Amino acid sequence: MLSIPMRTRNQMLSFCSLLFVAAWAAFPVAGGEAVFTVNVGQNKVAVNPLLYGIFLEDINHTVEGGIYAELIRDRSFESTADPCAERTSYLPDNLHPKSEKTAWSLVNSGMAQGTMVFDSAPPLLNSAQQRCCRLDIAAIGPGERVAIANEGFWGINIKEGAKYDFSLYARGDEKLRGNMLVVSLEDEQGFVYASQEIGPLTTVWQRFGGSLRPTQNNPKGRFLIAAQAPGTIWLDVVSLFPPTWKQRPNGLRPELAELIAELKPAFCRFPGGAFVHSGDLPNAWRWKKTIGDIAERPGHWNLWGYRSSDGLGLHEYLQLCEDLGTEPLLVIPLGVTGPNNSYTAPMSQVGEWLQDALDAVEYANGPATSKWGALRAQQGHPAPFNVKFLGLDNERGGREYNERYKLFYEAIKKQYPSLTLVSPADVGKLPCDIRDEHYYGTLTFFQGNDHRFDNYPRGGPRISVSEYAGGPNLAGALAEGLFLLGLERNSDLMTLCCDAPLCTHLDDAKWRGVCIEYDNYRSYRQVPFYIQKLFSRNRGDYVLKSTLDCDKTALEQGERGKVGVETEATRVELQDVQVVGPDGRVLYKSDFGRGAPEWRVEHVPPSCWVVRSNSFCQVCEQSDQRLTRVTTGETNWTDYTYFLKFRKTGGENGVRVLFRFTEHENWLSFNVGGWGNSGSGFEAQSPLQRKLLSPMVPGKVETGKWYDVKVEVQADAARGYLNGQLIAEARLLPPIQLDTVYAGANQESQNGDVILKMINVQREPQRMRIRLNGTAFINPSARETVLSSAELTDANSLDHPFKVAPVEQTVTGIEKDFGYSLAPYSLTVLRINTKAHGGGKWGNLHAADPFPVGTSMPD
Ligand code: AHR
Repeated sequence: MLSIPMRTRNQMLSFCSLLFVAAWAAFPVAGGEAVFTVNVGQNKVAVNPLLYGIFLEDINHTVEGGIYAELIRDRSFESTADPCAERTSYLPDNLHPKSEKTAWSLVNSGMAQGTMVFDSAPPLLNSAQQRCCRLDIAAIGPGERVAIANEGFWGINIKEGAKYDFSLYARGDEKLRGNMLVVSLEDEQGFVYASQEIGPLTTVWQRFGGSLRPTQNNPKGRFLIAAQAPGTIWLDVVSLFPPTWKQRPNGLRPELAELIAELKPAFCRFPGGAFVHSGDLPNAWRWKKTIGDIAERPGHWNLWGYRSSDGLGLHEYLQLCEDLGTEPLLVIPLGVTGPNNSYTAPMSQVGEWLQDALDAVEYANGPATSKWGALRAQQGHPAPFNVKFLGLDNERGGREYNERYKLFYEAIKKQYPSLTLVSPADVGKLPCDIRDEHYYGTLTFFQGNDHRFDNYPRGGPRISVSEYAGGPNLAGALAEGLFLLGLERNSDLMTLCCDAPLCTHLDDAKWRGVCIEYDNYRSYRQVPFYIQKLFSRNRGDYVLKSTLDCDKTALEQGERGKVGVETEATRVELQDVQVVGPDGRVLYKSDFGRGAPEWRVEHVPPSCWVVRSNSFCQVCEQSDQRLTRVTTGETNWTDYTYFLKFRKTGGENGVRVLFRFTEHENWLSFNVGGWGNSGSGFEAQSPLQRKLLSPMVPGKVETGKWYDVKVEVQADAARGYLNGQLIAEARLLPPIQLDTVYAGANQESQNGDVILKMINVQREPQRMRIRLNGTAFINPSARETVLSSAELTDANSLDHPFKVAPVEQTVTGIEKDFGYSLAPYSLTVLRINTKAHGGGKWGNLHAADPFPVGTSMPD
């Protein structure tokens, strides 16, 4: 739960002269003038050079079908296997691997007759491959073919003249021994852009390879392997690579790698995220299965709804970090996963997981004479990669985790004392170098947390925020920006900060990433990309002491809204729901005998709630419903009495009786049988926090028993009754005051540039008075970069890749005390040179020379 420090800023309002007349004239400006006072040269805190990095996790096809250039989806035919039920039992439907459709299809031309099956009968290619593709060709005439086609990651981008390297393993039966196969790049109708014969087949597995050079472009092509005679063939590990970034074999999609390089990340955290522990033990990321020949890599089910080939394995990640010139932050699993650590390797097996961790460090850093260092050298990299940061799993905690963490920490430090270890949780009194925290939320959430780190205790572990995101649009970008101002300001505490997820393949977006979006042939920078880039290019060396006095806006917390019910891993049945206004007027009365069309079902398919006689019943397995919610009524309801009857029919908890519900992040609840079915009390969820509003009264909800609930909601108080008895009373929350603008000031020591970063989260321009104290010289011309758009929801897309992009220009009139206007919904970076001889990066520029929207900024 988050605690929000109160603001301490003064509200000093004054008026200012207008420098940027165009902006003033075009829009009505917001409230009063904000005053931003910067003490140049005073109270400097060094900015942590590890701000800002990137987080590479295979989610949304960040890797498979994303930066990893392999064009064949499901190249080893393993995605057609049934994922073991155990591993996925708690995953929501959209993340269930069963939802992945195979990318392979059968092509019978003319009268040819063939069938395709995914086969696990021996002899398989090797022990890493559990299945292959068997193609039975029953009949085939002259000029006909039976083929399997791969559609790639929703299309294969065929480029005229480019070299496509393919490889595959094949064997034939006696009938096909000595026959050739044909591989080709084609369109849907069978138009061939490039083809090559391979063979001859034998009855044992052989590797075939070659190159194709297409004669035309087609961004949505496919790859085929065809037989021309009757018989049976078996195929496995089919691979197709276009030219890769830096021409590395088994390498990266160049334009995506270039976009990542453009961010100049200070570090790269990989390979996850939850991807590391992956939801169950058999599918945790075990690095030893991710190195060497791709045919020897089994791959694994990825927690994010598809299979990962692990073609981008430990070695390739380390190589990528080296190519980017960035510090690797390698995250390894500790064998603790599942909800409540329900899948955890017993302590008797922990040694194996620990050894894997130690060996990973030896692979990365050991001399080429060491066992694992020698393997690295064999893979073409004799020099150590020099990893300095190691993450001990991701978003884990609790007793099972802490027990293992202690073992890992001590053993790793003993062998590698200079490694910095990152723990994903508060490990209490256990030793800890860096504690990692993750923040996802709306713009409002980040506004409410902009001072979060100002009051963090010093003297303990340093903090990394290796996942934060506000969403893939302008609101998300501004949210990240103002959050980063807080991270920079607390540079003495902060280290290793990056947003997440980085990428989204738009044809299979399970959880939209924030920075780079693409399909199989196009890509663009999403708005938060520019925040990362502008902050990493304008980090400066020191944070200058500054103050900002500005207007506030009030954020309502549970002021009005609908009624509803929410359950977590629990099933209930509802009856007799009624809402009565303060004047006794009935605002709502259920009539479940006639249905429940006025109820909105969230988080589960609507079919999980059905009407049976006079009840509204939750019918799906509770394990499928970690959280579900039904709501009804009007969002402008304020005071009322809410009655309902409920009966628990299965699961772990009781119910949240919701009132003043407006949206996912704004509601109040009388939680009956909450906290693991241990008690009842009032809670408030606002975009900033979840808060207990009354003491928790112990008590359990019994399965099968009907309960009468009444909640009286009046102005700023609520009372909750259970079976006629008053159980809890709460005072409701007053509105929270949020700033309208955010700002920070840094300085580059060498050239003396003062870098002001200012964010306006309002629809109107914001007048600013900027005071630069403590500097004798100020260059009147400054470099201004503005990221802004008309609506907070504005975002870039495949069709409009540069809709929201920074615009740069030189502005004049900068002096010790000057007026300035921040554009509506904007981040502004203003680089002001304060060294007479410095000629800072943008010093002495007088003519306005805007960069066209969408061009990348100069280094
Ligand atoms: O960034 C996506 C996921 O969010 C990460 O895997 C996990 O750490 C977090 O829950």
